[in-house]
Amino acid sequence: ALERTLSIIKPDAVAKNVIGEIYTRFEKAGLHIVAAKMKHLSREEAEGFYAVHRERPFFGALVEFMISGPVMIQALEGEDAIAKNRDLMGATNPKEAAAGTIRADFAESIDANAVHGSDGAETAAQEISYFFADGEICPR
Ligand code: CMP
Repeated sequence: ALERTLSIIKPDAVAKNVIGEIYTRFEKAGLHIVAAKMKHLSREEAEGFYAVHRERPFFGALVEFMISGPVMIQALEGEDAIAKNRDLMGATNPKEAAAGTIRADFAESIDANAVHGSDGAETAAQEISYFFADGEICPR
């Protein structure tokens, strides 16, 4: 099905200057960027975005990392966009990520793991609306 998913290029990958290389992977996989913004998240924005992880032991480190520098946030659209983006990203822990995936190629650790992608249809809709107003999305 035609889907949209939320993608975040995290501070480590932005600092490495690989936004374009990651965008190329989306495009080569048939995913279209239909909204994008670069932003240095506030603590409140990062905590709100990851609210589902609030009770996890890694929450504090996750928030600190996500506000350590600017991120690039995009909505991706395409056939099976949610699963396709997760395939492109690879496993959450880069040490377990398959060769050729974004995390295997660009990420250093489970905290600094280069990218975020929505994990399901409901989270995708919720995460896209967290960062983009309807008028900021440009349908194809
Ligand atoms: P992300 O897909 O952005 O969602 C939550 C993030 O928490 C995850 O990527 C990781 O970067 C980070 N994280 C740190 N430790 C863990 C862990 N043990 N399990 C899952 N996510 C973790």
